[in-house]
Amino acid sequence: MLGITKRFGPVVANEDIWFVARKGEVHALIGENGAGKSTLMSILAGFYRPDAGELRVGGQPVTFRSPGDAIQAGIGMVYQHFMLVDSFTVAENIVLGLPRTGVALDLDAAERQLVDVSKRYGLGVDPRARIWQLSVGEQQRVEILRLLIRGATTLVFDEPTAVLTPQESADLIQTMRALAAEGFCVIFISHKLGEVEAVADRITVLRHGSIVDTLDAGAVDRRALARMMVGRELAAVLLDDSEVDGAGETGEVVLAVENVSALGDKRLPALRGVSFEIRSGETFGIAGVAGNGQRELAEVITGLRPATEGTVTLRNMDITNAHPRTIARAGVAHVPEDRLGAGLVGPLDLASNAILRTYRRNPIARGPMLVKRAIDRFADRLIWAYEVNPADHSARLRDLSGGNQQKLLIARELAGEPAAIVAVHPTRGVDVGASEAIHGVLRAQRVRGAATLLISEDLDELIALCDRIAVIYEGQLMGTVTPREADAETLGLMMAGTPLDYIRQPVSA
Ligand SMILES: Nc1ncnc2c1ncn2[C@@H]1O[C@H](COP(=O)(O)OP(=O)(O)OP(=O)(O)O)[C@@H](O)[C@H]1O
Ligand SMILES: [Mg+2]
Repeated sequence: MLGITKRFGPVVANEDIWFVARKGEVHALIGENGAGKSTLMSILAGFYRPDAGELRVGGQPVTFRSPGDAIQAGIGMVYQHFMLVDSFTVAENIVLGLPRTGVALDLDAAERQLVDVSKRYGLGVDPRARIWQLSVGEQQRVEILRLLIRGATTLVFDEPTAVLTPQESADLIQTMRALAAEGFCVIFISHKLGEVEAVADRITVLRHGSIVDTLDAGAVDRRALARMMVGRELAAVLLDDSEVDGAGETGEVVLAVENVSALGDKRLPALRGVSFEIRSGETFGIAGVAGNGQRELAEVITGLRPATEGTVTLRNMDITNAHPRTIARAGVAHVPEDRLGAGLVGPLDLASNAILRTYRRNPIARGPMLVKRAIDRFADRLIWAYEVNPADHSARLRDLSGGNQQKLLIARELAGEPAAIVAVHPTRGVDVGASEAIHGVLRAQRVRGAATLLISEDLDELIALCDRIAVIYEGQLMGTVTPREADAETLGLMMAGTPLDYIRQPVSA
């Protein structure tokens, strides 16, 4: 990509970018939220046309009018929201995009080719499974297979591991390495510096739409990368994951979950008799592989899913199966897993999104009249505190980069003085600087006396922030440990379904 510039109105998303990715390498693209990574790769994949600059593939100048043109030139992009048809099988989805040769769709041939290619790159999926039956990780594999079968030789991954479990992420990293070894060009966008170190041959750092540098992966450490991205030093916690907070002063029980059971979306038991208490000033972590009841637990507490059994109590108030708004008003803040689905409205501006939750309260609502100036000021404060970019309360939410949307949601949810906080993957998809800010706010809320339930797949994050960590497996808690006791083996065994009591049993001869 030679001298690429791309503007959205007044925003310069990419400015005079010179970017070269080679055959046979994994090239990581990193940078803060809004740095211009997705825009640059969307240009490469034919979704946007640059305002200036030239694309070359294999030395030849090319012009893409559509993603189809890019695929013809061998460039395919794996998005976070997959472009698959839910009700079709894996094989049908793959045939769907192929140019029709001769007779009707040859599903048998497609299935055979699918099995071949998937074996070769360790991308196992059942060709006859329907998309809706697959996990997110499996759907991602289908997406990769689809691009490979359509002849892609350059594969672009935009934050592919943000939606994966740790095991799936490790598998994907293997696949990326295997693809590079076979001569593919792999471009990988990520905020997780550990992954970048594990997989990249070269690293390009973007900041505010421009390239800071392209480096050999062996030549830099995490601290230097973080500094290049952010333009300043960051606290050590996030980089070294070494800090363990001692247990602070904790007060009375704020949130009590007693023997709670609930059904999942497919009407099968998702929670089976979960109990725990969180005290004022305490952060209680839930670790576990995604899909073991974490989402359902957060939803039951915040009123979005009925409990079939058990009780949830906030201080002395029974909030079991209460209306979500009642629960929110009673003082439970919620950072949901699905930010756009549950928390933000794309077509509205930032100011409106910032007050979606608090609009019934003073000083923002004075009688039935919403006071525009107070709203704007409130939004400005959140934007400033979390460095949301663009720092403009009249910008439309959907024009923000993914990470900046999340920053605004988290800022909104963690504003004020909630009695309890339910935070689900609060730093997923946000850059290191913003993660640092979010951890800072969670720590401050803890010191202030909030009782926090932190659901995360990031063990380092749990260890850095929690007073106690429980592991959930198939809807049951396997045990609770302190951060000091939380070694990888103990947590790993519990995440695989071994109760803590069993792990700690003395071995008998
Ligand atoms: N369709 C659009 N309309 C207006 N502005 C846009 C649009 N798409 C992106 N932008 C702006 O361009 C800039 C770069 O956004 P981009 O999505 O490329 O960032 P990113 O590096 O991928 O960030 P993240 O890590 O948060 O995903 C941001 O300031 C964003 O607000
Ligand atoms: Mg992006």
